[in-house]
Amino acid sequence: MLVKKVKLNNFRNYQNDEFEFLPHLNILLGPNGKGKTNILESLIFISNTKSFRTLNDKDLIKKDEDYLRIICQSDTNEYKAVVNKDGKHLYINNIPIKKTSEFIGELNCILFKPSDVELFNQSPKERRRIFDIEIGKVSKEYLNAILEYNLLLKDKNRLLKENNIDEIYLNLINERMIPNIIEIIKGRKEFIEVINYYINDYYLKISGENRNIKVIYKKCCEIDDVENSLKKNQEKDIYYHYASFGPHHDDFEFMMDDYELTSIASQGQKRMTLIAFKLAILKYVYHKTKQMPILLLDDILSELDVKNRERLLDVINEDFQVIITSTDLLGIDVKREYNLIRV
Ligand SMILES: Nc1ncnc2c1ncn2[C@@H]1O[C@H](COP(=O)(O)OP(=O)(O)OP(=O)(O)O)[C@@H](O)[C@H]1O
Ligand SMILES: [Mg+2]
Repeated sequence: MLVKKVKLNNFRNYQNDEFEFLPHLNILLGPNGKGKTNILESLIFISNTKSFRTLNDKDLIKKDEDYLRIICQSDTNEYKAVVNKDGKHLYINNIPIKKTSEFIGELNCILFKPSDVELFNQSPKERRRIFDIEIGKVSKEYLNAILEYNLLLKDKNRLLKENNIDEIYLNLINERMIPNIIEIIKGRKEFIEVINYYINDYYLKISGENRNIKVIYKKCCEIDDVENSLKKNQEKDIYYHYASFGPHHDDFEFMMDDYELTSIASQGQKRMTLIAFKLAILKYVYHKTKQMPILLLDDILSELDVKNRERLLDVINEDFQVIITSTDLLGIDVKREYNLIRV
C-alpha cells in the first residue's frame, strides 16, 4: 500500500495544498506549528475516518471556512473525505460510501505519536478502543461485532436498570451477544498472538537491548465458554443492575522480563516498546491483508537518543512506506535516501 499524493482544501491551516510522497522514507520538515502533524492527521482521517486529536470533525475545517476536503491518491485508488455542515461524506474513486465500515482501513495508516506512551497508563477502556481500531481496520467481521455488541450491551444495561426485569428479553439479548463475543475474543487473541511474535525482535532492533517484551490478553473467558459464562453471571448482573461479564471488561497488559512494563521501564524504553508495538501492528496488517500499511511517525526523532534513532531508521528501511515529521535533519544519515518535503 502506498500513498502517492494528498490534496488538502480547508483542512486545518491548509487552504489548497498538495503533497507528494515516494515509496520508502518521506520526511516532512518544518518549524513548530507549521502544519506537519496536520498532514499526518489528514492521512489518519482517511485511514480511520476520525482524527486522533479531536472528536469533533468540524475542528478540522480551516478557520472561517465551511467545508474541508481531503483527496488521497494511493497506488490503486482515490479516497476522498468531505466534511461540511451536513456531516462527513466519504468516497472511493468518486463513488459515495454510505457505511463507514466499508471505508475504514481501506487505506491503512499506522501512526506513532509521542503521547502514545500514555497507552500503558491509560484506562482499560482507552486501551481497548485503540486495539479495536487496529483490529477493526483489517476485519469487517470484527468491526461489525464490536458495533453490534456495544448496541446490545447498551440494551442489556438499560434492561438491567429496570425494577422488574424481563428475563425472556434478557436471554434474547444474551443469545444475540454470543456470536459477537466469540468474534471479539477471536480477533483480540489473534492480534495479540501476532504482536507477540514480532514485538521482541523489533524492540531488540531499535534498542539494541535483548528484553522479553510481551502483551498479555486478559480476556473475559475462553471462546468455548461464552454461553456458559453469560448464564453464570446472570444472577450477579440482575443483583448489581449492570452487565458484569463480557469483552467490555477485557484488558491488555504490557510486560517486560515478566514484570509489568510500567513498573520497571524507563521513559525511553516505554517509547521504544511502543514503536516496536506499532511495527508489529504493521506485520499484523500484512498477515491479515497481504498488504503493508503506511507508517506515520510524528516527532519520533526528537524522542530517541542518537543510537536508537539510527537503529530505528535502519529498521524502517524495510519494504514499506514511512512518513516522518521533523523540525530538523539532525541525526539523519546523509547517505540515506529520502524524499524531503518542506512544510
Ligand atoms: N481549524 C484550523 N484552522 C486554521 N488553522 C488551524 C486549525 N487547526 C489548527 N490550525 C493551525 O495549525 C497549526 C498547527 O499545525 P501542526 O500541529 O500540524 O504543527 P506542526 O508543524 O506539527 O508543529 P510541531 O512541530 O510543533 O509539532 C497551528 O498554527 C494551528 O493554529
Ligand atoms: Mg507536530
